[in-house]
Amino acid sequence: MGLSRAAIVFFIVFGVFGSSLSACSRVGGCKLLEECSSDDDCETGFYCFSCFEGLRGSRCVRSTVTNQFKLVNYSLPFNKYAYLTTHNAYAIEGEPSRTGVPRVTFTNQEDTVTQQLNNGVRALMLDTYDFEGDVWLCHSRGGKCYDITAFEPFIETLREIEAFLSANPSEIITLILEDYVRAPHGLTRVFKESGLRKYWFPKSRMPRDGRDWPLVSDMIAANQRLVVFTSVPSKERTEGIAYQWNYMVENQYGDGGMRDGRCRNRAESAAMHDTGKSLVLVNYFSSIPVKQVACVHNSAELLGMLETCYAAAGNRWANFVAVDYYKRSEGGGPFEATDTLNGRLMCGCDDVHACAQQERPQLLQPSPHTTSTHKL
Ligand SMILES: *[C@@H]1O[C@H](CO)[C@@H](O)[C@H](O)[C@H]1NC(C)=O
Repeated sequence: MGLSRAAIVFFIVFGVFGSSLSACSRVGGCKLLEECSSDDDCETGFYCFSCFEGLRGSRCVRSTVTNQFKLVNYSLPFNKYAYLTTHNAYAIEGEPSRTGVPRVTFTNQEDTVTQQLNNGVRALMLDTYDFEGDVWLCHSRGGKCYDITAFEPFIETLREIEAFLSANPSEIITLILEDYVRAPHGLTRVFKESGLRKYWFPKSRMPRDGRDWPLVSDMIAANQRLVVFTSVPSKERTEGIAYQWNYMVENQYGDGGMRDGRCRNRAESAAMHDTGKSLVLVNYFSSIPVKQVACVHNSAELLGMLETCYAAAGNRWANFVAVDYYKRSEGGGPFEATDTLNGRLMCGCDDVHACAQQERPQLLQPSPHTTSTHKL
């Protein structure tokens, strides 16, 4: 008897550990945080990833954002939704050198811009420079681009964006430019050449006094689906390109923006609580990108900073959440953060899926008179 009882205990213990250690064997069916050996093991919307600190072994983690428009509706103002934002979206690991000289600079992302957009990224932070008689995306210093810091001509990225907007007529993309272009109308020229001007959201429709933005449904109907901000104030007047901090508050970027419990505006931005600006951007990435720790930064820490910045911004949730290595996380990462923000912004819930349920109350909640007898 004693032996068989020991055997039962053994099998229970073994069973528990055995199941948690063995890889999920349902090809294409492994769920969040189940073990995997390749991306194909994971359900759609997940990929197989190992975070050195947070996860033991490789697990299925999220790789896509919930599309808040399709899931709930398009009927709220643009500033009542959240958009996943990639910091230095163009500084992509493995991007071949275009100048003939090996590049010597940091990278911040691993996917192409097209992949980022397909995974639900809706705002791109890009650094634009005069270089080689053209406008280039470059990761540089002192406002000057060099052979060793250049990534690619801006127009190539703009063409990827044009292809996405053309194939996805209900999507809106925001570009946030750290703009070092001094050539007169340099940006306007490449936007025209790329075919993106037809999607231009005019500065005249952007509210400057803290009012709501136009409805997303109106922006789509008017085909004004490209929102562009520059860091150069004078381009509002000369090129009609909106000066970012007339419309948006933004916290400090880099290490200065990662101090627990603090959410201060960056120097160019008005104070976070200035509700005269209708949009809120939260940065959360380190000054020197280290991809091995990005999964930790992009998980619980990120959610914590979004709460901190909510309070700092006068009880306003972020519209843009900007990260490095956006797919790296311990599970939900920036995708879960964006779903949470959309839930809070759109219907005051913890997740955007709850807003979708509120939209169909008659299907999902029994009426008060029938609760006791008819459980749905
Ligand atoms: C769209 O969704 C929001 C959030 O759930 C809701 O408040 C709003 O009433 C909906 N609008 C329409 C027209 O259904």
